[in-house]
Amino acid sequence: MSDQAARIKSIEDQLHCEAMRMESSHLRNIVNLEGRERFRLELDDLIVDYTRQPITSIIIKKLLELADAKALDKFILEFFAGEPINLTERRSANHFGLRSPDYTKTADYMKLAGFAQSIRENNVVRSVVNLGMGGSDLGPSMVTQGLSGSHDGPKIHYVGNIDPTALFDILLKCDPQSTLFIVTSKSFTTSETLANAELAKNWLQKHKVEVNKSMVAVTAKPDRARKWGISAEHIFSFDEGVGGRYSTWSAVGLPVMIAIGSNAFAEFLAGAHAMDQHVKEAPFALNVPVIMGLLRVWHRTYLKKMAYGLMPYDQRLSRLPAWAQQLEMESNGKGVDRLGNAISSPAAPLIWGEVGTTSQHSFFQWLHQGLDVVPIDILVARKSGIVADDINWQSSHKTLVINAVAQAEALANGVTNKKEPHRNFPGNRPSLLISWEKTNPYSLGRLLALYEYVTIVSGFIWGVNSFDQWGVELGKKLANDISSGHNLNKLSQAGQDFLRKMKEE
Ligand code: F6P
Repeated sequence: MSDQAARIKSIEDQLHCEAMRMESSHLRNIVNLEGRERFRLELDDLIVDYTRQPITSIIIKKLLELADAKALDKFILEFFAGEPINLTERRSANHFGLRSPDYTKTADYMKLAGFAQSIRENNVVRSVVNLGMGGSDLGPSMVTQGLSGSHDGPKIHYVGNIDPTALFDILLKCDPQSTLFIVTSKSFTTSETLANAELAKNWLQKHKVEVNKSMVAVTAKPDRARKWGISAEHIFSFDEGVGGRYSTWSAVGLPVMIAIGSNAFAEFLAGAHAMDQHVKEAPFALNVPVIMGLLRVWHRTYLKKMAYGLMPYDQRLSRLPAWAQQLEMESNGKGVDRLGNAISSPAAPLIWGEVGTTSQHSFFQWLHQGLDVVPIDILVARKSGIVADDINWQSSHKTLVINAVAQAEALANGVTNKKEPHRNFPGNRPSLLISWEKTNPYSLGRLLALYEYVTIVSGFIWGVNSFDQWGVELGKKLANDISSGHNLNKLSQAGQDFLRKMKEE
C-alpha cells in the first residue's frame, strides 16, 4: 500500500469511528455547544448554516484531512486548467469557462445575445417552445421558472418528454404563426428530442409556416443539426466539453435569455462566476461547496444515509430538486471509480425534494417521525422577490421564512412526549439552512454553481467520474432495438408478451 493510500485508509477508519460515536449523541445536545457558530459559512449574502449537522470540529477536521489526502486541491487546479478529467470520454469539463466575463465578449455569445434580443424586440414571436431532454430541458426550464420575476420576454414552454401529450398540450396554447421552436440537443441524436422536432416541423408545415424561420437549434454538433434541416445562421453551438447537466450557462440557456434578456442572463453567469472564484480561492475550511461536498460524503459514506432531500422554500424554485436530481444522480450514481475499479461503498444518494411549505403538509410527517433519518437542505431567500405595496405580501414571505427555520429547529431538537407517543418527536434529524437575500439572476446563478461544485467535490472524494453517464445507454439501445425490431428474441418472455399485447391492441 502506498503512503497516500495508507493515509487515506487511516483517515477513513477514524471517520468510521467518529460516525459510530455520533450515533450515541443527539443534535439537541450539540447545536448549542460553545463555538458552534463556526459551522456557519458566508459568501456575501449567501449563508450556509451547518450548525444542525451531526458533526464536531474533529469530524470536520478529519473530512478536510481526507480531502487533503485525496489531493482535492490538485483536482480543482486540473479542473480549472482544462485537464481531461473526464477520462472515459477523454475530455475536460469546460462549463465554468462560460461564466467568465470573457465569454460574454465571444462571437458565440454575441450571436446568441443578438438573436435573443431580436426575438424579444420583434414582437412576432409570442411563444417559444424548447424541445430537449435531461440537461437540455431541466436546467433552462427550472431557471426560467426560478426567474419568472425577471421574465419580460415572450412566453416560454418546455417539452422534455417523448410522451406526445407533452407537446400536444403545449401546441394547444400556441399560434403556429408566432411560435419559435428551439431544438436543444448537445448530441443531436437524442431520439425523443428529434421525434418531437419532427412533430413540431409537421405542425408548422401543416399551418403553412416556413420551417426555417420558426426552428432553431442549440447543439454541440452543428453538422448534424444542418443535416436535419436547420440553417447555419439558426444554429447556436457550444463546446463538446460542456456536459448536458452542466450546460444551462451555454447556448442551452437561450430560452432563458429570451425570457429575461441578455443583461439579466449575464448577471446569472456573474453569480456562477462568483462561486467559481470562491471555490478556487477560499481555504477549504471556509469553502462553501467544499464543506457541503464533504458533508454529502459524511452522510452517505459514514452515516450510511441513502437519501438526501432538497427543500426550496421558494415556489419559483419548485423544479430545483428535479434539476439537482439529474445533476447529482447522473454525475455520481456510479459503481466504478475513474479508473474503472469497483468502488467499495455507494456514492450519490437518492436526491429528492419538494417546495416548502407544500412539503410540510405531505412527507414531512415521514421526516419527523418515520424511522429513517434523512438529511435535508432547507433553502430560502430572506426577502421576497415580489415588489408589492401591500404589506401583507411581505408578511406572507416572512411566514414562509419562519416556517423554514421552524422546520430546521423541529427536525434537530424534536420534543419528548412520553405520555402521548404519537406526539413524540425524536428529533436528531439534520438539516442545512441555506439562505440568501433575494432570488434574482445573480443569486440563482451562484446557488446552481454551488450545487454543481457540491456534486463535483463529493464525486471526487468518492472517486467517481462526475462527468460521464454511461448508465443511461443500455435502456436507450434496447428502446432503439425494439423500435427497429432487432434482437427481440433477447428480451425476457414478459417483455415479448408485452410487445405482443401492444401489437394486438
Ligand atoms: O439521459 C442522458 C442524457 O445523455 C443526458 O446526460 C443529457 O442531458 C440528455 O440525455 C440529453 O442529451 P442531448 O442534449 O444530447 O440531447
